[in-house]
Amino acid sequence: MNITVGASGPPNAAGAEFESYPNAALAVGGADPDDKRIVFDGVNKHFGDLHVLKDINLTVRGGEVVAVIGPSGSGKSTLCRTVNGLERIDSGTIRIDGNLIPLEGADLAKLRMKVGMVFQQFNLFPNKTALENVTFALVKVRGLTKQEARDRAMRLLERVGVERNCNQLPASLSGGQQQRVAIARALAMEPSLMLFDEATSALDPEIVRGVLGIMRDLAENGMTMLVVTHEMGFARATADRIVFMDNGQILEDAPPEQFFEAPRCARAQKFLADVLGR
Ligand SMILES: Nc1ncnc2c1ncn2[C@@H]1O[C@H](COP(=O)(O)OP(=O)(O)OP(=O)(O)O)[C@@H](O)[C@H]1O
Ligand SMILES: [Mg+2]
Repeated sequence: MNITVGASGPPNAAGAEFESYPNAALAVGGADPDDKRIVFDGVNKHFGDLHVLKDINLTVRGGEVVAVIGPSGSGKSTLCRTVNGLERIDSGTIRIDGNLIPLEGADLAKLRMKVGMVFQQFNLFPNKTALENVTFALVKVRGLTKQEARDRAMRLLERVGVERNCNQLPASLSGGQQQRVAIARALAMEPSLMLFDEATSALDPEIVRGVLGIMRDLAENGMTMLVVTHEMGFARATADRIVFMDNGQILEDAPPEQFFEAPRCARAQKFLADVLGR
């Protein structure tokens, strides 16, 4: 399957095609309205007196790529972290594949398996090799044999272009390589959706392109993605929708052309003027 989402996006630096995901076809002509992967309904969250998420209503459908952008401190990371239960909400509901996010225990662990998350910092196990980072949960949580886990992990490490680094510890890998391993580790669990929070922010500029290329391949092959990013070119070329946050609120939720060409609210206009220098 080949979907053109924008002429100027980065090439696939890994040089590998990703397999299609079950919902891949839906990515072509828009998402299936009944396939709701994430639904925020009236969500509020405070840190002490600070109201960081204000009445958030947002639906991400199967195969959709939703880019979350906005100024520092606007609540983007907090929004992401609520989706896999890393932050609890004070009111409202969040459903993943129709189910409320469990508060704790085995159900929360199960939810986390469905939601792949890639952060700015790579969060790899420092004492495990790249390969072991990917196989660990496959064996311990998913119950695959060591050989099955190894086979799956090597296929994924190959897809993200770091198979030759499989026996290295994270400290001996570059930032870009570590982030590729983190993506492979998340994909290994065959998640229902992927969260990316500033996944390229800690990388050197020349490394960013390759990691964005991997993310774009995932998107083109139907992965459902919620992506917090400062990479406006990537958001414009790859996302189906742009969600603009400021001060804990979603101020705009629009297709990329509409958002970047004619943002409705003054805050988004100013933000774009600042980041795009126009
Ligand atoms: N654990 C915490 N305890 C207290 N306040 C917090 C905590 N985490 C985040 N905050 C505050 O909540 C607000 C939203 O933070 P968040 O990290 O979600 O913003 P962000 O949009 O991701 O910003 P950035 O673009 O800088 O990553 C900020 O004012 C932040 O200081
Ligand atoms: Mg953040």
